[in-house]
Amino acid sequence: MVTITINGKAVQANEGEMLLAAIRRQGIDTPALCHHDAIEPCGSCRLCMVEITKKEWEGWTRSVTSCLYPVEPGLIVSTHTPQLLELRKTILELYLARSSQSEVIQKMAEDYGITHSSFPVIPDGDDCIMCYACTRICEELGCFAISAVDRGHDKKVSGPLRQPPPDCIGCLSCAHICPTGFIKWQDLDSTRTIWERQFELLSCRTCGKRTITRDFAEYLMKKRNLPAAYFELCDDCKRTETAKTMGKIVVAAQEVLK
Ligand code: FES
Repeated sequence: MVTITINGKAVQANEGEMLLAAIRRQGIDTPALCHHDAIEPCGSCRLCMVEITKKEWEGWTRSVTSCLYPVEPGLIVSTHTPQLLELRKTILELYLARSSQSEVIQKMAEDYGITHSSFPVIPDGDDCIMCYACTRICEELGCFAISAVDRGHDKKVSGPLRQPPPDCIGCLSCAHICPTGFIKWQDLDSTRTIWERQFELLSCRTCGKRTITRDFAEYLMKKRNLPAAYFELCDDCKRTETAKTMGKIVVAAQEVLK
């Protein structure tokens, strides 16, 4: 543990952890769109910028992305200076110009007093802010199904050559991690649709609830050495079965001890 100062208050933090974590532990609201605990930080959205200095820096300050900057002893951190607020407003206006329909962006902008962008609104803009959280989680899973394709204004996240990604397993990690809810999917009866592909959904053999896609189950069997039987029950029924088994063990043990 080391001591750092955040907004004038001395606090304890773990050396090497990212500043954003230490800041959030203090209940300080610092916007962050591209950060997620499940993936390595990449610093793409720039919203979490903070100002840092140290006593020995003699008044020199530096702006850093707090999701990527590790805690060091003696750091003095400011999260809401007038310059930082202006910077965040500008970034949010840029996002608002690109993703004017995104409720997440609208809400964040509103929190900073912004209701419209002073930048030209991109007419065919969408809710993707190019933070790559989706492609990063897909890579970390080892699927590499989606990536950024094309360049400049045409750049977008997609399967190879803008086609439905053949390596997608329909696990929904990308959709769940997307900060703006841009990645759409649908479960209908026994079919999941995402990235213009359709996947068969498995059903719990006890209650019939749909669980995960067959492709995802096969992926987990191969990568994690899980038996096929593991996927026969939904999580609720697994818990019920475990409780029943434990109950039987307890009764058997009591019989032995009589
Ligand atoms: S959360 Fe740090 S740059 Fe996006």
